[in-house]
Amino acid sequence: MPESNDFPRASIIEGVRFTAQVGVPNVIQGLFKKRELPTKVAGVARADLFGFMLIQGLVRKYGPGPFYVRVATDETLFVSDPADIVFVLGGSPEPFASDPPAKKAGMSAFQPDALTLSRDDLWHNRRAFAESVLQTGKPLHSLGSRMAEVAGEEAAGLSGEIGYDELNTGFQRLTRRVVFGDAAADDTGLTALLGTLMSAGNRTPGKAAKGYDELIERIAAYVDAAEKGSLVSLVAKAPHDDATAVPGQLIHWLFAMGDTLPANLTRALALIGSHPEQRREVYAELEGVDVGAARSIAKLDHLGGVIQEAMRLWPTTPMFGRVATSDITFPDGRVLPAGTQVLMSNLFNHRDSARIPYADRFAPGEWSRGDAGQSWSFNFFSHGPQGCPGAAMSVFLGQAFLAALLRRATPELISPSLNPSKPLPHGLDLFAIRIGLTA
Ligand code: HEM
Repeated sequence: MPESNDFPRASIIEGVRFTAQVGVPNVIQGLFKKRELPTKVAGVARADLFGFMLIQGLVRKYGPGPFYVRVATDETLFVSDPADIVFVLGGSPEPFASDPPAKKAGMSAFQPDALTLSRDDLWHNRRAFAESVLQTGKPLHSLGSRMAEVAGEEAAGLSGEIGYDELNTGFQRLTRRVVFGDAAADDTGLTALLGTLMSAGNRTPGKAAKGYDELIERIAAYVDAAEKGSLVSLVAKAPHDDATAVPGQLIHWLFAMGDTLPANLTRALALIGSHPEQRREVYAELEGVDVGAARSIAKLDHLGGVIQEAMRLWPTTPMFGRVATSDITFPDGRVLPAGTQVLMSNLFNHRDSARIPYADRFAPGEWSRGDAGQSWSFNFFSHGPQGCPGAAMSVFLGQAFLAALLRRATPELISPSLNPSKPLPHGLDLFAIRIGLTA
């Protein structure tokens, strides 16, 4: 039993600073749809560095175990020790539900039926559906060959100087083709509609935004068509009923594959384009490989490590939370009251030099040869029963896309500058990245 039977508490003033430096910058940047201008300002202000330093100071003072910090008006339990992360994420979604109020109020604008907002039987119902279609846990999806073909075709459209916008345009097309089939390839209207609804989510309205019914109708039409070779062709055989709300599940797949994955791939290219030694290793691995063959692509472990390093260094989910559905007794006997929120910071955990010797370096070998893949400190895909069911597919699509691109061209980072011999910055403005592709 610990000395006190309650978790330590950060002071009121520390809570104010935490809210300002960690909580508020995330809200300004756009919780669900990153906004271009404020992201730039935040980057210039080195908000991520200041947020990191603040958390580091608090963990040194009150950690390494859980402690309370006030975020706006809520007393929130901050968790960063891997053993506590295992306890929390291993216990999701019950008793640690993943629908804390702000997330629910925001996400309801564009995906009120989302798996990540579901609890109890409804979560099990929707999770079984997602795992069946996405083939969670399988090293290679049964539609892997088709995905590789699509990735190769979309990567072929990129040349000259590129950044997130160019890459994302190609990737949105890839996403529509992989999820719905070729009939959706040019349905940019659907992607734009989802973008509008996600921007509405930034205002945390607590209910479906205008246009949601139209989005569902448009998705349902593709689900009904069930084009061969697409993910929706697998829906009929996957467990589902009315409660699953199938079109409502696919919304998450669209923005995670179409927005989040290309953001990470842009940063992966920035790393390859600025680190000559690691770039040589990437090209050595590609030597003689058929970059159109799914099985060969899936074996590109070093390239997979590059993608995961981009996600570790600059996580697209900087922090994430849970909420206690009942009073929860932690392993050391302390009790977290029902309704309390729990917060984990990937920005901090991924760079905590006290635990990670390569914290601020680009170290893809830690994934391909080391044990980074076993660490519960790295939660860009989360962990446990509620971990990302699309994780393996995301890495595979990234490998397929980058392998095809790198086979044709060599990337060189134009801006901003990243110096391989210095610690990498805590923030890397997605919209400032420019990469030159030389044939
Ligand atoms: C690089 C790309 C991706 C990243 C970084 C990512 C990250 C994450 C993270 C951090 C979570 C946990 C969120 C939380 O618990 O608060 C999550 C959950 C989820 N992800 Fe992904 N994801 C990616 C791609 C995908 C793709 C491509 C799909 C589907 C095709 C997908 C489907 C889901 C779903 C359905 C959940 C909710 C799981 C549940 O609540 O049981 N993700 N993802």
